[in-house]
Amino acid sequence: MKSIFYPLIVFILFACHDKKDQAQTTEKAEKVYDMYTPSEMANLMNEMYTYNEQLKKDIIDGKIPTEFPEKFLNIHTAQLSDFKSRNETFKSFSNLYIQAEKEVFNPNSKVPLETRFNTAIGICISCHTTECTGPIPRIKKLIIK
Ligand code: HEC
Repeated sequence: MKSIFYPLIVFILFACHDKKDQAQTTEKAEKVYDMYTPSEMANLMNEMYTYNEQLKKDIIDGKIPTEFPEKFLNIHTAQLSDFKSRNETFKSFSNLYIQAEKEVFNPNSKVPLETRFNTAIGICISCHTTECTGPIPRIKKLIIK
């Protein structure tokens, strides 16, 4: 079994980090200025992170979030780093994430707010296990214990 999963893990890690470095190195000559420019998606992700960090604090302080940040819908369209493409897995995780995040702002939900928040963060993590494992330890810190 090990031999089946090994190449997969290596591939995932490669897809997220090594290729990026490689691309940056090969493009170095022509692209000195925007070498470290993050992709639209990376920027969106960082915004989502900061937003959910604040949301966590608010929820712990007993504040009820009211307005779903429409900006998050850009997850469907934001440009990825050039070595990545949107496959079906990515699309379904995007949908799941948006659904779960919207639930956090649903005033009629019977599910406890902490649970709904943690479900949304769980989907961040699930997508990252398939796409980009690097930020997972950081994302895990968002979970409300
Ligand atoms: C549908 C899949 C998916 C979901 C859901 C998702 N991410 Fe990501 N995330 C990615 C991908 C792909 C990248 C790499 C983007 C790139 O390099 O273009 C990324 C990158 C990141 C990064 C690194 C950005 C950088 O500076 O390179 C952080 C932090 C991050 N995500 C946090 C989150 C958080 C927090 C959530 C949930 C609120 C989340 N992600 C939900 C796929 C996802």
